[in-house]
Amino acid sequence: MLRRSGLSLGQYFLRRKNRAGFSWYFNKTKMSRLVQARRLEGMDKNVWVEFVKLAATYPTVNLGQGFPDFPPPDFVKEAFMKAVGGENIMLHQYTRAFGHPVLVTILARFFGKLLGQELDPLTNVLVTVGAYEALFCCFQALVDEGDEVIIIEPFFDCYEPMVKMAGGTPVFVQLRPKAAEAGKLMSSGDWQLDPAELASRFTERTKAIVLNSPNNPLGKVFTRGEMELIADLCVKHDVLCFSDEVYEWIVYDGKEHIRIASLPGMWDRTITIGSAGKTFSATGWKIGWSLGPDRLLKHLRTVHQNSVYHCPTAAQEAVAQAFQREFDNYGKPDSYFVQLAQELQQKRDWLVRSLVAGGMKPIVPEGTYFLMADFSEFKSEVPDLPDSDEPYDSRFIKWMIINKGLVSIPVSAFYSTPHKRNFDHFIRFCFAKEESTLKAAEDILQQWSLEKTGQ
Ligand SMILES: Cc1ncc(COP(=O)(O)O)c(C=O)c1O
Repeated sequence: MLRRSGLSLGQYFLRRKNRAGFSWYFNKTKMSRLVQARRLEGMDKNVWVEFVKLAATYPTVNLGQGFPDFPPPDFVKEAFMKAVGGENIMLHQYTRAFGHPVLVTILARFFGKLLGQELDPLTNVLVTVGAYEALFCCFQALVDEGDEVIIIEPFFDCYEPMVKMAGGTPVFVQLRPKAAEAGKLMSSGDWQLDPAELASRFTERTKAIVLNSPNNPLGKVFTRGEMELIADLCVKHDVLCFSDEVYEWIVYDGKEHIRIASLPGMWDRTITIGSAGKTFSATGWKIGWSLGPDRLLKHLRTVHQNSVYHCPTAAQEAVAQAFQREFDNYGKPDSYFVQLAQELQQKRDWLVRSLVAGGMKPIVPEGTYFLMADFSEFKSEVPDLPDSDEPYDSRFIKWMIINKGLVSIPVSAFYSTPHKRNFDHFIRFCFAKEESTLKAAEDILQQWSLEKTGQ
């Protein structure tokens, strides 16, 4: 019709409007009321949507979003192919809504050992669409209007909107950097909680604290002492802990990943969250889980059964087979978990060297496949606009993507609004990348450094 009439889209709608007269006006008035639910106000911006799109728009070396650009191990891929191509045709159909039986069984066995708890596969394990859904279920099921939830900054960005969508109030406490040892690069371990400041955040309204160790974006692995401090406060104030442990296997330099649910008094008040995507380098599979006491998990099941209901059966079957293999190889050199951390540590060291040579100051992470780097030396490249709504790191990365072809993520996205500006001289890089990708990033940084020094 539009093509036949030879009108532009604007002209076409103007004509229709005039022809429709009063009824058009009436409908328009009706449509002008607020359409979105109030709980969505202020939540439309999302760093991943914005920067993933930018990374796809320009030819870039992408060290932005957190996913490996190398394949999952063969045994994981083969497990999936067997699940979809094998004789068990029921793997193409619905399975148990709270988790495929073979998957919840092996998760209960595996993590029961690590947590020092006898886990019942049917009541202590819930399978979700990635760790993301597990987090969403925690907040929706256990946080009420007026509840406060403590979030440690910097934090994985979805915690804040998820608390707010549940009607809760996020209360922030910061990891504070102390100076690095003379002549050494700063480590993520140099960022610590002030015990008095942390204690002051617990009030009678506190319902839960979110703990993320190893932490995204900093790479901090909380020590046993730090975990005990948090655990003691949770027990003292009768507070829940949502422990996001998606990077549990990615820990370096002999550091130990402590599971807070294994500390005294914590099992009964903790939901432990994991991700097959991070565990087996297959982020697109979107299989995650929550572990915890039935008194908490039964409420997460209510959210799950009334929202997502069910996760893909074949992917769950493949993750179950992969876990069974890791169970048999636990702690041995053949274990993927052992090999992944070793390989990523080399990649971490490579990126640290490239950044230092290029003039940035990386904070060496103790875990995860991310690192934060201070790019203050590069501030002359992009003018600061103190009155701009957009934090400096975000504008800097947009410039870097367009002019240098290198993608990273602004660290201000991992801070609450009042604190963003204090950390907008950091950007986050992901190093779960092929050697060729890391080499390409190194070349960009090297060339950039030569241009800066006028050589
Ligand atoms: C700390 C943290 N938690 C949860 C998630 C979400 O994991 P999944 O992809 O399994 O939903 C991510 C993903 O980047 C993450 O970094």
